[in-house]
Amino acid sequence: MLLPVIMAGGSGSRLWPLSRTLYPKQFLSLTKDATMLQETVNRLGGLTHQPSIFICNEEHRFIVAEQLRKANIKNDGIILEPMGKNTAPAIALAALKAVENGDDPLLLVLAADHVIKDTDAFIQSIERAKKSAEDGKLVTFGIVPTHPETGYGYIRGGQSIDDGIYQVDAFVEKPALDIAKTYCECGDYYWNSGMFLFKASKFIQELEAHSPEILKVCRTSLDNAEKDLDFFRIPSQIFSECPSDSVDYAVMEKTNDAAVVPLNANWSDVGSWSSLWDVSTKDNDGNAVQGDVLLESTKNSYIYSQNKLVATVGLDDLVIVETKDAVLVAHKDKVQDVKSIVTQLNELG
Ligand code: GDD
Ligand code: MG
Repeated sequence: MLLPVIMAGGSGSRLWPLSRTLYPKQFLSLTKDATMLQETVNRLGGLTHQPSIFICNEEHRFIVAEQLRKANIKNDGIILEPMGKNTAPAIALAALKAVENGDDPLLLVLAADHVIKDTDAFIQSIERAKKSAEDGKLVTFGIVPTHPETGYGYIRGGQSIDDGIYQVDAFVEKPALDIAKTYCECGDYYWNSGMFLFKASKFIQELEAHSPEILKVCRTSLDNAEKDLDFFRIPSQIFSECPSDSVDYAVMEKTNDAAVVPLNANWSDVGSWSSLWDVSTKDNDGNAVQGDVLLESTKNSYIYSQNKLVATVGLDDLVIVETKDAVLVAHKDKVQDVKSIVTQLNELG
């Protein structure tokens, strides 16, 4: 039994001003007509699986329910977190819910905000991962790095376990730049794509061993959750006590049972405007545009207009994003710093 768990509780702040607290990246249509959340489920079409469990912030419940309804996507529950506690508690809640009736499915944990262009290759990697996951491995999907990105986890592949699947010798979450550089140069490392396949019971066991407090709070939270249609409302009073941690730090860096399946499927986590430019269709001058845009002598730029005509003359390597109440103009090499604008805005209140 394969049960997809779709994590949709992130904030996507580097894609401001399109991605907002009230309407973050995973709910936007960035590269296709379908939203990223809908695409995440649509691309599983070639796989036999149960209806997915969704896990998101309570304030996004109507967006999620509406997007699933519109795309005719069935669910096996939408877990609502009263506040974000990062991915380890999110997956813990889903794993505990999955074993509630004595089942022990394989959980295919997916981020709701990634682009994967080669769906067939992606499905093949999942199929390849199944046996090891059934045998008790926590399987990760590894991407061959193209640059020393510090926003990713790094996985050192070891001995072959099975056809196209390897033992993980080391898992290092978000290393400093000098370390990321050595990992890229030595060629033994993959990027962690942030998607996982494991048995629900195995994940629970690992959490018990490495982060027992998270497991304890999540168990009590789920026991006291209020069921309301498809929603499972996690009580704020209990869940607020949960330590905040990502699955990468809480479990993946510590476990001895991780495995990696290489994934060569044109994956991107579209974490920033430049990575969105990377995966977008471009004209002959390397421009990716959306909306009402007019270009003159403009190259290698990403230009998005929601309301007004945006006209550019003599630009290179820029990102321009026009929305109803904000306009971003940034150099394509500096778009990671958009996060600081969001921090400044939050401080202003
Ligand atoms: N439900 C829920 N609750 N979902 C969450 C929460 C939360 O508190 N926090 C994050 N998510 C969701 C995000 O929406 C996203 O889909 C996914 O979980 C991953 O979270 P990110 O915050 O985007 O993680 P990251 O990008 O910094 O790092 C992870 O992904 C990288 C690849 O994109 C790690 O797994 C890295 O190791 C990995 O390289
Ligand atoms: Mg991410």
